Amino acid sequence: SMRKMGITGVYIRTGVIEDKDSEEQPVITAQVQQKIDKRQVKDRAKVINYGKMKKIQIINGPNLNLLGKREPTVYGNASFEGYLSELRAKYPQCEIAYFQSNVEGEMINKIHEVGFDYDGIIMNAGAYTHTSIALHDAIKAVTTPVVEVHISNVHARESFRHVSMISAACKGVILGFGLDSYRLAVEAVLQLAMDN
Ligand code: DQA
Repeated sequence: SMRKMGITGVYIRTGVIEDKDSEEQPVITAQVQQKIDKRQVKDRAKVINYGKMKKIQIINGPNLNLLGKREPTVYGNASFEGYLSELRAKYPQCEIAYFQSNVEGEMINKIHEVGFDYDGIIMNAGAYTHTSIALHDAIKAVTTPVVEVHISNVHARESFRHVSMISAACKGVILGFGLDSYRLAVEAVLQLAMDN
């Protein structure tokens, strides 16, 4: 039988191996062997990558230190710290670092600090989302993928929240699922890390 080995465009005859009565011999040319070797190296790298601790940085922007106290009808009653310990317990294969700042420049410094070796940055830029070209540029400047998150569905709120200065620089956006937006973003980062 001809079985696809998962190598693009290469089919290997496996008839002899599977069917002992067959006369056919598998045809493995040097070129095919080279492709198999390459594939094995790639698979090994993938296995190592799968097993590696993933590093994720959460960055929360202005006013998000008041989660639980601030406008609970919009943002809920839970503090971020409590939610964060649940999230860390749920993903033991991840090192989830947390940083909150009300200062735009400090958020930018954090992006620069982790943005070349972490697997992902999950960022809720708060109201800077709607104003900060400097954050947009910082996200563009680094290699780590950034996932923009919002607790509330900003599109169902005031029109000044409908525009994001950072979305275009981010890998993707998750919003409107309450604190669960952060968990969904962790899932997205893990998937991106696996695809690498
Ligand atoms: C927010 C939405 C922003 O419009 C607002 O300024 C915030 C929080 C959210 O998570 O829903 O501070 O980013």
